[in-house]
Amino acid sequence: MGNTQPTPPGPPSGELRATGTLEIKDSRTDKNYSVQIVQGGVEGDTAIRAMDLRQIKTQPDEFGLMTYDPAFMNTASTKSAITFIDGDKGILRYRGYPIEQLAEKATFLEVAWLLRHGELPTQDEYNNWVHEITYHTYVHENIKTFLQGFRYDAHPMSMLCSAVAAMSSFYPEAKNIHDPEARNISIVRLLAKLPTLAAFCYRHVKGLPFIYPDNDLSYTENFLSMVARMSEPKYEANPVFVKALEVLFILHADHEQNCSTNAVRAVGSSHVDPFSAIAAGVAALYGPLHGGANEQVLRMINEIGHPKNVPGFIDEVKGGKGSRLMGFGHRVYKSYDPRARIVKKLADEVFAQVGMDKDLEIALKLEEAALNDEYFISRKLYPNVDFYTGLIYRSMAFPTDFFTVLFAVARTAGWLSQWEEMLNDKEQKIARPRQIYVGYGERPYKSTLTDKFPSAKKDALRK
Ligand code: CMC
Repeated sequence: MGNTQPTPPGPPSGELRATGTLEIKDSRTDKNYSVQIVQGGVEGDTAIRAMDLRQIKTQPDEFGLMTYDPAFMNTASTKSAITFIDGDKGILRYRGYPIEQLAEKATFLEVAWLLRHGELPTQDEYNNWVHEITYHTYVHENIKTFLQGFRYDAHPMSMLCSAVAAMSSFYPEAKNIHDPEARNISIVRLLAKLPTLAAFCYRHVKGLPFIYPDNDLSYTENFLSMVARMSEPKYEANPVFVKALEVLFILHADHEQNCSTNAVRAVGSSHVDPFSAIAAGVAALYGPLHGGANEQVLRMINEIGHPKNVPGFIDEVKGGKGSRLMGFGHRVYKSYDPRARIVKKLADEVFAQVGMDKDLEIALKLEEAALNDEYFISRKLYPNVDFYTGLIYRSMAFPTDFFTVLFAVARTAGWLSQWEEMLNDKEQKIARPRQIYVGYGERPYKSTLTDKFPSAKKDALRK
């Protein structure tokens, strides 16, 4: 957030610089304190260091002042050079490049490289990167057995989360997170194998045989092949779907310190291996307020059933009787989510190929009703990335509960870049927030139990 100014030539320093001071007077002691204000890059985000407040106390042996910020509403947990968002202006950039340009011109693997390394790859770097990822797409055969243990109706996000965590046990060397080579191969493996795991989850739920990766195909073509191939010797994906998936993967690749990225960073800060840290990201993404929203949008639209029911549904949302308007609102965007704009255009291209989605009219009516309603206007609630993605995924024949899995495959690129940035940041330590204790003071233990070890067996004997 902040002022948008042209980027000066040369890479940014990545450091915070002092830009002023904040003068604080503690009314409890009448003491004055001067706290430094720091600023990031050219974009103008400013903050004070929370630890500078610790000196503010009424007694020398007191702990000192903390900040209280449930849900990190106003706390920067890190400095980062990866993704920039201006929520008021609806701007999203990866490493300085506007999302609109990347979505139009880049490939997903090019973006994955960019997120991690900070610069676009040279042709040689790109060739090696694509080669490495293509040749690590196979998973250990035991992963297949592992996935076959899930029930036929298991949610694919539960399966994916467990499978990513399980992969940690197949690569014990991934624990060497301070060794750049071990880190590199883990990153390659995760990016390469996520589509395979995701496709295997799909095939299991559908009761279809697993399809092995095809190294002749691009990242997205291979993914579609593993999802949809039947008896044909070579799968040829619909080029409109390949392009759509490539764009959707780019749009979902990173989004700075969102819930799942924060989970990856927090879990990774314990110096666990990256497979375990990424599994935490998948778990966080599963939630309906985060990545799970794309699934919920379609469920909501199904429930509404007909455009004529939209006004009544909006009234229910406003009255707090029903659910929220899923796919609307964002912690950071207080104007149209730039990704939603791209997705809406993409939907037109996909529908031109496969025919209009039967529920597009409901979605358009919902958007129109909300954008003209005082409740949503005053709260600055606009469509987010998840509002239209579900309709595209459905027209590509993906089942509703698979939508968030697609999000997870793409976000793995961002999670890994953020994880590595965290490890290389000398200021980072194990994530461990403080709390303000509001419970009882000390009191003596006095049990009210008469039987400390009740058991079913004892109950049976008593009868
Ligand atoms: N429908 C109706 N009211 C809403 C919505 C919504 N979708 N979102 C926020 N509000 C209201 C909320 O009730 C509150 O009203 P009041 O001030 O009267 O109490 C006000 O707007 C502020 O909401 P908040 O919960 O304080 O905002 P937040 O920043 O904590 O939540 C959010 C952000 C994304 C969780 C929320 O907007 C939401 O639940 N949206 C629906 C779920 C969704 O689409 N999530 C996907 C987010 S984008 C992709 C991703 O992150 O994966």
